[in-house]
Amino acid sequence: MKTIVMLISGRGSNMQAIATALAAERWPARIAAVISHRPHAGGLDWAREQGLHTVVIDHTGFANREAFDAALAAEIDRYDPDLVVLAGFMRILTEGFVRHFEGRLMNIHPSLLPAFAGLHTHQRALDAGCKVAGATVHFVTPTLDHGPVVIQAAVPVLPGDDEARLAARVLACEHVVYPRAVRWFLADELRLEPEGRVRHQHGEPQWLWAAP
Ligand code: GAR
Repeated sequence: MKTIVMLISGRGSNMQAIATALAAERWPARIAAVISHRPHAGGLDWAREQGLHTVVIDHTGFANREAFDAALAAEIDRYDPDLVVLAGFMRILTEGFVRHFEGRLMNIHPSLLPAFAGLHTHQRALDAGCKVAGATVHFVTPTLDHGPVVIQAAVPVLPGDDEARLAARVLACEHVVYPRAVRWFLADELRLEPEGRVRHQHGEPQWLWAAP
């Protein structure tokens, strides 16, 4: 039985997608804790309703980033997780934190990395006139929104799109690819090659193209 810890900042729809897939597909895994730095993160209510163990570590109570990350790492370590899942966790992580969990720390970012690291990814894709947008699941390295890519989902940018419409189209794909990536990791189906490339060892497609 593998153990997952999830970190959320907000509504937690990716957390829900992963937890729902885990239950429906009967993965040999459990979610030991859902942790948020925001006491009122909407996803915490859903997690509690599911009977998941939730923890709040309010970042405003810490003097600096290092102190918060140390407390967060100590809490995560209590569960000895095989995988730490960043599911809309909107904090910059210190190098020490990332190194501590390196290789078992996964994130989803709403762009086709390395394009559009950081915030406002959908508006920036629209402003750049992109015809394709998407999301990336990757292992976390100390560089923000960077690291070995596990799977990417691409969607078309359609005439008349605004930020909300494009975000919704991408989010629907996030809910497909993130559970898939987590399932692969827990089943030991991913291989990290020396150049920092991630290969699915049975050749599963590491992309999703959501045609309109
Ligand atoms: C998702 O779109 C996720 O890709 C993004 O935040 C949203 C969280 O939604 N993450 C980042 O921007 C990380 N850099 P959710 O709380 O409903 O899963």
